[in-house]
Amino acid sequence: MPATILVGAQWGDEGKGRIADWLAAESDVVARYGGGDNAGHTVYVEQKVFKLHLIPSGILHERAVCVLGNGMVINPVNLVKEINHLRELGADVSPERLRISTRAHIITPAHIALDGASEKKLGSQAIGTTLRGIGPAYLDKTGRRGIRAGEMANVEDFADMLHQAIQEANAAMLQQGLEAIDAGSAVAPYLDAAQRLKPYLTDTAVYLNGRLKAGARVLCEGAQGTLLDVDHGSYPFVTSSSPTAGGALTGLGIGPGYVDRVVGAAKSFSTRVGAGPMPTEQHGEIGDRLRGTGEHFWDEFGTTTGRPRRCGWLDGVMLRYAAQINGCTELFLTKLDVLSGFDELKLAVAYRLDGQTLTEPPTANRDLERVEPVYETLPGWQEDISAARRAADLPEAARAYIRRIAALCETPVFTVSVGPERDQLVRFD
Ligand code: GDP
Ligand code: IMO
Ligand code: MG
Repeated sequence: MPATILVGAQWGDEGKGRIADWLAAESDVVARYGGGDNAGHTVYVEQKVFKLHLIPSGILHERAVCVLGNGMVINPVNLVKEINHLRELGADVSPERLRISTRAHIITPAHIALDGASEKKLGSQAIGTTLRGIGPAYLDKTGRRGIRAGEMANVEDFADMLHQAIQEANAAMLQQGLEAIDAGSAVAPYLDAAQRLKPYLTDTAVYLNGRLKAGARVLCEGAQGTLLDVDHGSYPFVTSSSPTAGGALTGLGIGPGYVDRVVGAAKSFSTRVGAGPMPTEQHGEIGDRLRGTGEHFWDEFGTTTGRPRRCGWLDGVMLRYAAQINGCTELFLTKLDVLSGFDELKLAVAYRLDGQTLTEPPTANRDLERVEPVYETLPGWQEDISAARRAADLPEAARAYIRRIAALCETPVFTVSVGPERDQLVRFD
């Protein structure tokens, strides 16, 4: 049976958590393939808000087995906290339900300290990372000196490795005039966590291939988004992994032949958290209105860091690019309800740069910073659409907006969401 890849088609926070929760209902396995606890995936079930950082959203269903794939970077202390929190909320997070790849990499206290140090050094050029140690962990992975999750099976050796990593980081920290990490207090919770996590360690690539061969349905849950991809995003204002569909294959160790569906998650407008170019960003009243005041949990404030997200009109140039990079077979549009009440909506369909019209984003940030979006203006709608469940329940202006996005991206939109609850969906097939 086939695999589905769910991928963020913008700068993250597209609503992947809620879409994964929806797709998980018909999946046997849900597997995260990249990133770490920089992700914050929100799922709203029966008036309860679940914020998942490392564990796939499938954990909220009774059946699906959840996998933390080899492409991830894992902070074991935060993973144990998340397991405990989910248990308190009533989820089954036993080793039968959750598998951690022995090949995933560990985020050490050194990585977290170095992430902060690097951002400090960059000053006004800072990337605006989530300060979770993501970049330094991937740097050690590709530098072939990282610690892998499988090492937690032998807690004594794991302790030695952590001490050595901290010692090396401390040399760098002191050189920068920063405070050294106290190895004793930093390592102790890691060893407790390692003891707790041992039963979950699995060769997940072998596990996934076995399940796929036996006919299981696998959902590959992406984190971050295409425009934060280390290759395809606005480098260097990106994360250090490959959130795109290709990353699902390497991040889980499965072949492309299994994949028959790639769902691109896209918000009905644009948001970005952290620094870097965002051509359609709106600073005034429009940006504030899209963001919301913070009174609702779905307003645009970071799930992981609480930072206000930058907001703007939907960038169709970027979305079409993302649909192409990922080979999306469909798009899922979220938060359409937030657009109710605008007299008109703008949609960027091209960029102008130095007298030329571009239909693809330029590679260099110095160009992307200077592009002028070419907007198409579409009529808005006033109705509250949160109770819509069929296409016919939506105002014609909303349907026209969706049609235009699908045509521009040359990718069908089969589903839109009109609120954060499980059933607040409209299907178009
Ligand atoms: P993710 O990182 O892609 O999983 O997205 P986040 O969870 O960080 O941010 C998306 C936010 O939008 C969450 O608070 C969701 O509950 C919320 N959300 C998702 N879909 C909808 C929708 O259709 N309408 C509204 N109002 N909120 C939504
Ligand atoms: P989810 O899965 C939005 C952004 C950070 C920063 C850049 C690099 O919830 O969509 P990092 O800590 O990864 O080195 O930060 O990437 N970023 C995200 N933005 N959603 C995310 O995850 C993100 N994960 C990282 O804000 O700009
Ligand atoms: Mg998020």
